[in-house]
Amino acid sequence: MHIDIFTLFPDMFAGPFDDSIIKRAREADIVSIALHNVREWAPGKHRQCDDTPYGGGGGMVIKPEPVFYAVEDVLDMQPGDPPPCPVVLLTPQGRLLTQEIAKELSQHERIALICGRYEGIDERVREHLVTDQVSIGDYVLSGGELAAMVLVDALTRLQPGALGDPGAPLQDSHSAGLLEHPHYTRPAEFRGWMVPDVLLSGHHANQARWRRESALRRTHERRPDLLQRADLSEADRAFLATLADEPETEE
Ligand code: 6GU
Repeated sequence: MHIDIFTLFPDMFAGPFDDSIIKRAREADIVSIALHNVREWAPGKHRQCDDTPYGGGGGMVIKPEPVFYAVEDVLDMQPGDPPPCPVVLLTPQGRLLTQEIAKELSQHERIALICGRYEGIDERVREHLVTDQVSIGDYVLSGGELAAMVLVDALTRLQPGALGDPGAPLQDSHSAGLLEHPHYTRPAEFRGWMVPDVLLSGHHANQARWRRESALRRTHERRPDLLQRADLSEADRAFLATLADEPETEE
């Protein structure tokens, strides 16, 4: 997958893309990421990229020209051409990012991300250049850059070969529509706190059941809304029915 990122602050991206899974995926050519400083396409000696809003209201607004020129140039479009790939604006007004949306976007060979700034971007960018708008949550960030990093991470993990274990994306929280079960590793006892017996028992069927039921219990307690859309078996439903009248586990 190739990802073009259009931003006024390309330096913000140093770090997150240069470590761990994204670093390895880039080295293995599973993803390639190109950062484009929109300012380089701004006309005029001062390369001005923002201006005051027509009609008042305060704050500054990103001008349309640098954004259109940058995206058209990089994506090899003539003015008015439909873009050759999704052009996603990161904005608090976008659809809320979910694992479902990440999966959908991860299928594309190429994707372009435009980082907005909260005060705004000229509406003509939304209307005539952008094909999709994504938000990463109902809170305000200073710009779309951090949101773009979040999206790139979610997309990279979904690329075939990006994770060591090919089954890993399936086990992730949210992929199965449930929160993950608790995890433990050695030592079996730490400060008197024991790992649950079943996990030390070597009984694989019981352990699989414990993992599933722990995930169901956790989701029931913390994110019951997720159960509406989760992929549940008859056994899952029977187990959830026993939780309805059980006091909540403390944590
Ligand atoms: Cl995509 N942008 C900004 N500026 N704030 C956000 C966001 C995006 N998603 C959540 N908050």
